Amino acid sequence: MIRVLFVCLGNICRSPMAEAVMRDLVEKEHLSHRIEVDSAATSSWHIGEPPHRGTQDKLKEYDISTKGMQGRQLQKADFNHFDYIIGMDESNIRNIRTMVGNPDSPKIFRFLDLTDHQKDVPDPYYTGNFQETYDLVLEGCHALLEKIKIENQM
Ligand code: 4NP
Repeated sequence: MIRVLFVCLGNICRSPMAEAVMRDLVEKEHLSHRIEVDSAATSSWHIGEPPHRGTQDKLKEYDISTKGMQGRQLQKADFNHFDYIIGMDESNIRNIRTMVGNPDSPKIFRFLDLTDHQKDVPDPYYTGNFQETYDLVLEGCHALLEKIKIENQM
C-alpha cells in the first residue's frame, strides 16, 4: 500500500480538500487497493472538527463527499507510516520537518512544486476563495497521482 498524507495549518480547509479530491481520483482510476489518502494539521486548533463549510460546499459542487472527515494533528509516528507527506505551503513544510524530527527527508515536499505553479496553495480560510484553491488542488492531485504511478510501477 502507498500512503499519502496532506498537511496544512488547520486541517479544515486545504488538506481535507486535497484528501477528498485525491481519494476521488484514486477511486476513479480503480487504485483504492493500492493508494491510501489521509490529512492532518500542524496545529491542534481544529481537532475533531469537520472540514470548513466552504470546503464542504465546494466539494459538494463536484460531487465529492466529506462524510466522516474530521481534523487531526500530525504525529511523529506519521513519518514512518506515510510514503508521501505533502505540505500545502512553505510554513507547513518547515513545521512538518520539525514535528517529525526528520528535516531532510525527500518524502516531505510542497504540494504545488509538483506543478508549473511552484507556489503555496492559497489559504481560503483567509482569502475566502475556495474555487481558486479547488482548481489548484485538482491540478496538484493529478500531478501527484502521475508521480505515484511512475514511482511505484502502477
Ligand atoms: P487550513 O486553513 O490550514 O487550510 O485548514 C486554516 C484553518 C484554520 C485557521 C487557519 C487556517 N485558523 O486560524 O483557525
